[in-house]
Amino acid sequence: MEKDLSKYRKSYEKGALLLTEVPENPLELFQKWFHEVDAFFIEDETNAMTVSTIGLDGYPKNRVVLLKKYTYEGFIFYTNYNSEKGKAIAMNPNVCLSFFWHGAERQVIIKGKAEKIAENLSDGYFESRPRGSQIGALVSNQSEVVENREVLENKLKALEDELEGKEVIRPKHWGGYLVRPVEIEFWQGRPNRLHDRIRYKLQEDYDWKIERLSP
Ligand SMILES: Cc1cc2nc3c(=O)[nH]c(=O)nc-3n(C[C@H](O)[C@H](O)[C@H](O)COP(=O)(O)O)c2cc1C
Repeated sequence: MEKDLSKYRKSYEKGALLLTEVPENPLELFQKWFHEVDAFFIEDETNAMTVSTIGLDGYPKNRVVLLKKYTYEGFIFYTNYNSEKGKAIAMNPNVCLSFFWHGAERQVIIKGKAEKIAENLSDGYFESRPRGSQIGALVSNQSEVVENREVLENKLKALEDELEGKEVIRPKHWGGYLVRPVEIEFWQGRPNRLHDRIRYKLQEDYDWKIERLSP
């Protein structure tokens, strides 16, 4: 099989990113971009991002998760702590998050350190989830091999019966990670491949160093 994709080409023309216009704190630029993408561009899930971890097998692995909160501290997503990514983070908390917002021709790449959030915060978020998602978190031993789909569906049914009329309690192995950024790069597509790239790097004094990178 062969498919030549060399004629796939696009000129990026939707925006610009100038050093003279960016804020001192990258979280403020992230917030601005996130709001703009949400409001003005076609994006199904603006909060979908890839999380890359360095696995126990030495390979990096990316997967998509949903960003559920961001603050000046960093970025929070929820998952199963026993999953492949959970085990990877336990061994090496250095992760990379990235967003590609194709409608806005923007990319954001965040290097940072992941840590589990406080139990009460995970409880709070778990309680806010629809019941189906809560029970789903109990059903799935995320990233474990499962013999077939029926096993999962039977387990779901059994749990639905068992928990009828009862509150679903968050399992301890399910919760949030906060990724504290150490570096954030903002990429805005420009014509002729002369894209804008602005990188913020956290310094020892906790100030952010801001630099333009070559495209
Ligand atoms: C749009 C989208 C959103 C997702 N959101 C999450 C999420 O918030 N949390 C999560 O654990 N997995 C989420 N997943 C599934 C993950 O991509 C992945 O399959 C799962 O977390 C297991 O990854 P792991 O085995 O590498 O740990 C999402 C997948 C997609 C495509």
